[in-house]
Amino acid sequence: MSEMLEKARKYEAEQGLQIKAEDRPAFHVSPYVGWMNDPNGFSCYQGEYHLFYQYNPYDTHWNSMHWGHVVSKDLLHWEYLPAALAPDEDYDKIGCFSGSAIELDDGRQLLIYTAVDQETLEDGTARDIQTQAVAVGDGKNYKKYEKNPVITGEDVPAGGSKVDFRDPKIWKDEDGFYYAVVANMMDDGNGRILLFRSTDAFQWQYVCVLDHSDEKLGKMWECPDFYEVDGKHVLVVSPMAMMPDGLKFHVGHSVIYLTGTYDKKTHQFIREDVQPLDSGIDFYAPQSMLTPDGRRVMIAWMQAWPNSKFVPDGVKYFGQMTVPREINYRNGKLIQQPVREIENYRGEHVHYEDVEISDETVLNGVDGRVLDMTVKLKVTDEFKKFTIKLAADETYDSTITYDPVREVLSLDRSRSGYMYDILHTRDIQVKPADGEVTLRILMDRFSVEIFINDGSQTATMVLFTPQKADNISFAADGKAQISVEKYTLTF
Ligand code: FRU
Repeated sequence: MSEMLEKARKYEAEQGLQIKAEDRPAFHVSPYVGWMNDPNGFSCYQGEYHLFYQYNPYDTHWNSMHWGHVVSKDLLHWEYLPAALAPDEDYDKIGCFSGSAIELDDGRQLLIYTAVDQETLEDGTARDIQTQAVAVGDGKNYKKYEKNPVITGEDVPAGGSKVDFRDPKIWKDEDGFYYAVVANMMDDGNGRILLFRSTDAFQWQYVCVLDHSDEKLGKMWECPDFYEVDGKHVLVVSPMAMMPDGLKFHVGHSVIYLTGTYDKKTHQFIREDVQPLDSGIDFYAPQSMLTPDGRRVMIAWMQAWPNSKFVPDGVKYFGQMTVPREINYRNGKLIQQPVREIENYRGEHVHYEDVEISDETVLNGVDGRVLDMTVKLKVTDEFKKFTIKLAADETYDSTITYDPVREVLSLDRSRSGYMYDILHTRDIQVKPADGEVTLRILMDRFSVEIFINDGSQTATMVLFTPQKADNISFAADGKAQISVEKYTLTF
């Protein structure tokens, strides 16, 4: 093991222990200590779920990317393993950037990641070089391949940058080949996704371009994922610098999914539609895996780059993952739901049917910060605005408001303990389904994830509200009718 990895492992084991359990989320993954961004290597290996993450143990800000590592038997209760990778080779000295993992036929686990090196140009300025490298291991310790890197700028077809070339996502297809999609910036700044293939996951050949942003869907695309679900092919990407489009796409870093057809012989992907993957405030760089029982499950970084520079004072870690979400495809849309294992953690239960809401109302037993609650709202012309206040007391609240005239759901977390003037609000177009808007609200100590209308839309945001602010209330401008089903989650 390199000195650098040994140092990181020692540091995280000492420092991680100093973070009290109650200062972490109850069931969302947070870094052992320091900084976390993208999920990496989300996969099943020898009967356990493995998740790695972009990791800087030494600081709550991004730097010197390592890979942190956690394992789980049920996707909700996670245990820390020692850091898996450190930027300890010449070819990755600037960082071990995002990538993925797979179990090889010989039983070893292979990690494929972006190795970042730096070169000095003639004018003396430095420039990053991104290549793809692999490491193999036993689920805990990994050895980088001596012939790294395995995919380089030489493999990038004409018109693309050798600098912005990253985030390989690997899978094995029915034809026995390993495939990987890799993000690449084009010379004009647009993003595109390259497909590579290999017989052994060590020697790779370029196949084709799957899709590109074409001046319309942002510039550089990051963190591609490509899979089939319920008979549909889906390419997920995280574009930088999106232009807004009404309330469909918001400006800046976004996550979108492109659905279409894919010919497994010619490798042609023909895009038919594009949708946002999560319309909240904090969601980026998702990655998915296929579980042994055939479910497509996705997890994402529950943050976004612009807000991530604003780290609350005094915290020892920064960054969380979303809850792992089951993905299906129905009626032209991806449907997201928290993994069904969450039901094993449901405790105390209250249920209210057809309650009329006008002035601010508290329902007995409907409170708390770690919970799974479904609110069904009948959409009528008898109210102009319906609001749910979460994580509330006299100082704090986080609100979800529905406007039935504009058919807009609004989030507002400006009173949620984040003491910075950053993005705190988001408006989302939400059409009622069968005359109702259904909100499944999954709360952990520091987050709210909303699964709208059976998960056909989602909205995610993080909070820093002190835990004692645990009231929930409902109010309507007029008369609204709701049903509420709430479970306390206990871990
Ligand atoms: C996305 C990203 C990736 C890169 C990683 C670096 O959030 O920018 O493209 O591999 O983060 O930490």
